[in-house]
Amino acid sequence: MSAASREAIVPSLAAMYQTFFPIGAAVEPETLVSQSDLLVTQVSSLVAENAMKWERIHPARGNNLSSYAFAGADAIVAFARDHGMKVRGHTLVWHNQVPAWVFQGDAGPVTKSELLSRLRGHINTLLAHFQGEVYCWDVVNEAISERAGEWRTDSPWYRLAGSDHGGDGIPGYIEKAFEYARAADPAARLFYNDYGIETGAKLETALRLMKALKAKGLVDGVGIQGHWTVFGPDAETVRRAIQSFASLGVEVQITELDVSLYRGGDTSVLQEPRVDLLSGQAEMYGSYFRVFREEAQAHRLTGVTFWGIADDHTWLDSFPVKGRKDWPLLFDIRHRPKDAFWTAATW
Ligand code: G3I
Repeated sequence: MSAASREAIVPSLAAMYQTFFPIGAAVEPETLVSQSDLLVTQVSSLVAENAMKWERIHPARGNNLSSYAFAGADAIVAFARDHGMKVRGHTLVWHNQVPAWVFQGDAGPVTKSELLSRLRGHINTLLAHFQGEVYCWDVVNEAISERAGEWRTDSPWYRLAGSDHGGDGIPGYIEKAFEYARAADPAARLFYNDYGIETGAKLETALRLMKALKAKGLVDGVGIQGHWTVFGPDAETVRRAIQSFASLGVEVQITELDVSLYRGGDTSVLQEPRVDLLSGQAEMYGSYFRVFREEAQAHRLTGVTFWGIADDHTWLDSFPVKGRKDWPLLFDIRHRPKDAFWTAATW
């Protein structure tokens, strides 16, 4: 296809992948407007980048409906409904973006039983509010540390409600969160979601967690976030992780896909996206999507969600260097398809 005709006709990734898996994107209420051109044509699933997180959706102390702020999340769900898209729920339990009141008692830190009761109230309210609209939930997000695959101990959830309940070494709050979610909406598919679980100790701990939760019927799937870079991980490493999780009988989704032009830990600054890096990115996306198609055909992968849709809105512009531009997605800042789009869309 010539460059000119590519400009003219941009196929829909969601349509091309219809028989494999939904193609998703993380959105903010504002990007439903600023990126609507791409969203309506390119994706078949949405997830709220921030709008369903505790600090946004349940900012005020207490558990009556006036403690909740549903407007942003409701706008996302309404957009999905209007355009026939699915919605993933993100996220019920995380160590970030939780208001301080959740962990405070009348005098000092909240007790474990009160914290779990607040968690149950939060989960019950959200799953009831979005019942039938949100088909799966990231129930617990990022509970495993980068240190040798230990539990994330620098989390108030762990500190206040982490002691083991079931004798299987799983922190209590994790199991409770899944129990509450299962009871609140038995039809919702329940996920554990994390980054860096493709290899090593973090993968081992994630497998142990999934196995224990699956044995109790509490979990349906694992989300491999997929915050990757031009420098790795390679697609075969990703394939092995997908297969390891799938062998436990859980579904696997890629939940937060983006491919940074910077190597992990690199704090240098590019003024423009370098051509060699953009072609490396295209190669990486091509090889990832080949693995995704093959694993979907083998019934091991059930969804691929990007953390954004175009380079004009990406969390990587503030991380790890605030204000540094990155270009991790398939569409450029003017919403034109990049080489990475074509390698993902061609087979
Ligand atoms: O809305 C406030 C605004 O009122 C305030 O003035 C401003 C000051 O910094 O902050 C604004 O909130 C920011 C929010 O994004 C909305 O843009 C937060 O500071 C900022 O921390 C927050 O970042 C989000 C980040 O999670 C928080 O850790 C990113 O948008 C979001 O993409 C990112 O998403 C996470 C996933 O949930 C879990 N996996 C990793 C992924 C990337 O970090």
